[in-house]
Amino acid sequence: MTKVIADHEIVDIQIPAKGHLFITLKSPVEIPSVFPGNFAELHIAKSSEVFLRRPFGILDVDYENRLISFYVKIVGKGTRELARYKTGEKINIMYPLGNSFSIPKNGKEVLVVGGGSGIATFILLGKLLNQNNLKAIFLIGGRTKQDILLTEELGEYGQVLITTEDGSLGEKGFVTDHSIFRSGSFDFDKIYTCGPEPMMKAIGKIARKHQIDCEVSLENMMACGFGVCLCCVTETKEGNQRVCMEGPVFNLDFLKWQI
Ligand SMILES: Cc1cc2nc3c(=O)[nH]c(=O)nc-3n(C[C@H](O)[C@H](O)[C@H](O)COP(=O)(O)OP(=O)(O)OC[C@H]3O[C@@H](n4cnc5c(N)ncnc54)[C@H](O)[C@@H]3O)c2cc1C
Ligand code: FES
Repeated sequence: MTKVIADHEIVDIQIPAKGHLFITLKSPVEIPSVFPGNFAELHIAKSSEVFLRRPFGILDVDYENRLISFYVKIVGKGTRELARYKTGEKINIMYPLGNSFSIPKNGKEVLVVGGGSGIATFILLGKLLNQNNLKAIFLIGGRTKQDILLTEELGEYGQVLITTEDGSLGEKGFVTDHSIFRSGSFDFDKIYTCGPEPMMKAIGKIARKHQIDCEVSLENMMACGFGVCLCCVTETKEGNQRVCMEGPVFNLDFLKWQI
């Protein structure tokens, strides 16, 4: 797969709600094909304090205008620095990295479940599902309504269901508390999930119970992002595998998760 490592100019940077950031950058070269689940490593170099690149799922790509965008949750040093960038400034990005979600053959309907920044790759996934004539239900959760973003955009590709822990939007509780899981006809050709690990494990448990194929996208901490440092490994049925190379998307049954 062709990779880009280049300085990209920021054409748009917005903080839609406290702690959340959308950033769009213009590539100096043609953007290679990007698949849902692929990620990029951003070199956040505003100060010398953030040394390692930080990984972020690719939110969307506009090939014609050579634009690539990201949805970032501000959690620490690197993401806080990223939020201080202005349009016109440049960031060095390396992408596309990692593997991508797969599409079920002869499937009709899938469930896509995400929490926090885990929803970042769901726009590209939604596009791919639509291209394959699959009906999608997106179930997204957050602590409060301020954490629920991208609903309009996801709504273009399927039905959007919401949970918030404080009940300020959608159903009250965690995503796994949503009434869809209590429906007598709960059945999907596949479940995709990305978000905090406890959430993905809980979704995995539901998938197993209903014997539904499930893909999870892991967000293990990374350093190099291209298979060398081994700091991102996860235990699988075929030994330790690198989340940045063999992942970030894994079939649930391939992982050695205790659920
Ligand atoms: C493949 C992949 C895709 C990702 N996609 C996105 C995305 O689209 N949007 C987004 O906002 N984030 C995404 N992340 C997580 C993102 O990389 C981290 O939040 C970011 O690197 C934190 O950098 P920081 O310097 O702000 O935090 P640090 O100062 O390094 O850490 C701050 C806090 O965040 C925790 N933290 C750091 N990295 C992670 C991580 N990977 N997972 C969970 N907790 C972490 C640390 O333990 C610490 O408590 C992704 C991670 C991976 C591996
Ligand atoms: S981040 Fe270095 S091997 Fe995966």
